[in-house]
Amino acid sequence: MLNVAIIGCGYWGNHLVRNFYTSTLWNVKYICDKDKNQLDKISSKYSNITSLTNPEQIFDDATIDAVVIATPVFSHFELAKKSLLSNKHTWVEKPLAASSEEAKELIEIAKSRNLILHVDHTYIYTPAVRKIKELIDNNVLGDMLYFDSTRVNLGLFQHDINVIWDLAPHDISILQYTIGKKPISVSATGKSFYKYNNKDIASISFIYIEFDDGSIAHINVNWMSPVKIRQIIMGGSSKMLVFDDMETVSKIKVYDSGVDFKKREDIYDVLIQYRTGDMYSPAIKNYEALSFECNHFYDSIVKDIETDTNGETGLYVVSILEAADKSLTLGGTPIQI
Ligand SMILES: NC(=O)c1ccc[n+]([C@@H]2O[C@H](COP(=O)([O-])OP(=O)(O)OC[C@H]3O[C@@H](n4cnc5c(N)ncnc54)[C@H](O)[C@@H]3O)[C@@H](O)[C@H]2O)c1
Repeated sequence: MLNVAIIGCGYWGNHLVRNFYTSTLWNVKYICDKDKNQLDKISSKYSNITSLTNPEQIFDDATIDAVVIATPVFSHFELAKKSLLSNKHTWVEKPLAASSEEAKELIEIAKSRNLILHVDHTYIYTPAVRKIKELIDNNVLGDMLYFDSTRVNLGLFQHDINVIWDLAPHDISILQYTIGKKPISVSATGKSFYKYNNKDIASISFIYIEFDDGSIAHINVNWMSPVKIRQIIMGGSSKMLVFDDMETVSKIKVYDSGVDFKKREDIYDVLIQYRTGDMYSPAIKNYEALSFECNHFYDSIVKDIETDTNGETGLYVVSILEAADKSLTLGGTPIQI
């Protein structure tokens, strides 16, 4: 067993404590939240875990192997840096940091101390996203042409980050893990309908990404939708796929549909042929992603290998978020990355 401490016991921290606590590989030694009321709510369920309102004791405790950081985004860098500098393997919630500069510094510290830096891009550990990667890796879809994602619902409005930093990390991490192309340009438009501390916080955004091979991605994130939609369409040259995370059974559907552009020798125009074939829904396993991820984090530490969502993948996500945010403030100007 390895000893772990969890900092930040809010909405997501609650899920993390439950999963680490029920794992046979981990011993949760401390939970920490600066809000005593929040801490008491969770510690009442786990009387054998020491609860703290200040994380310093965690960093000073040489028996702690790993630290999990589930606090708001703007505190990730400071806490993760302290954790790594105290020689703890470190799990940071998505997004890894509030800027790519911060993300790069964390990667460097982890590398120089031979520590695991893991980013919780939870979707990557879901059975559905693992299946999508398998289909793409086995070339079932052909060359990937586009990725089009819709992640909309009513709330939860955040005070410290806009909708891009809140929701788009999920889509960008799925894009990175399954398709993994190099982005060259990002633009974003959107709208803020309210201010917090005199600062506009965008609650709707449309992000457009171009990749070095000519493929494209579009991500629609929105806190002001009357319905909850979690849908991604991936278009390949051979087949197309729809991932609907709101479906309970057939989350993934693969369509033998596409468009063939055939050159005709006698004319300059291309001949467009549409294909509409069968649709099938591959079987996917059933397990809780966080539980799988806790085991994966443990394995990576004991075997000294990177996790599937390491610091570099965290940086990939943060650099796109950062460019989208910058483009948003410039009214949609494309930002080269
Ligand atoms: N992986 C996922 O699918 C997923 C889902 C939701 C949230 N998150 C991420 O989890 C993190 C937390 O989000 P949340 O929704 O749980 O927020 P939350 O506001 O519900 O919880 C954050 C908690 O951190 C505590 N906190 C803040 N600063 C602290 C500090 N310096 N030391 C100790 N405690 C501190 C707060 O008191 C609060 O209880 C964010 O980074 C968010 O992006 C990830």
